[in-house]
Amino acid sequence: MGDDGVLLPLAGHCEYIQGLDISEAMLGICREKLQKGNVPKSKAHVEVVDITGFNLGRKFDLIIAPYRVFQNLEANDQIDRFFKCIGEHLAANGSCILNVFKPFRSREALIKEWTGCEGENLYSDIVVEGKRVTAHERRLGIDEKKCVIYPALVYRIYDGDVLEDEQVLKIAMRCYWPGEFEKLITDHGFEIIARWGGYVGEIYGQGNELVIQFENTD
Ligand SMILES: C[S@@+](CC[C@H](N)C(=O)[O-])C[C@H]1O[C@@H](n2cnc3c(N)ncnc32)[C@H](O)[C@@H]1O
Repeated sequence: MGDDGVLLPLAGHCEYIQGLDISEAMLGICREKLQKGNVPKSKAHVEVVDITGFNLGRKFDLIIAPYRVFQNLEANDQIDRFFKCIGEHLAANGSCILNVFKPFRSREALIKEWTGCEGENLYSDIVVEGKRVTAHERRLGIDEKKCVIYPALVYRIYDGDVLEDEQVLKIAMRCYWPGEFEKLITDHGFEIIARWGGYVGEIYGQGNELVIQFENTD
């Protein structure tokens, strides 16, 4: 992904595109990009919406939920409501593409790794506008039954060696293995039309991602 994100590049290929997020702060960044990119308001619109319950009053040829947002839905009823909304918003020949990460390990190994662990893993260390920015994952725990992991993402900004700012974002990520992700989609009444294991042609189940395209059944 470049600095333009997802919505702005797609806007150039769509007659109309609508972006949803529960965070006004995230949408503010997107609005700024749309303005800088001179995208007319008639072509792109973003709004604060909870993806577990929405009615946009129109249908779409394609719905995507990029960057694994689907995994933030941890409860079964949230997932049911999400799929209901997707079904209601797909045009006659429309489809939806969902992606989640493929866990590197078995369920048992993941549970072991996320139980009673302490400390932080550094996963990014970059320089932005002359300042060092680090990102770390702190493992807060796991719901073994639903297989939801609870990471805290810790971002630190340094001015030289001095810590200038620290922000902590706690999230939930529900984990899926290849077969159960497919089953979840078909159990919600959809037909799978394509699947991939990543974004450069990986076979489903072999790459780092689980990417599935599906449509409403007739
Ligand atoms: C990994 S970020 C992706 C951000 C952004 N869409 C992009 O493409 O750069 C996941 C986003 O999902 C949003 N999110 C999480 N739960 C949500 C929900 N129930 N409804 C709508 N958005 C949600 C978060 O606010 C966050 O901005």
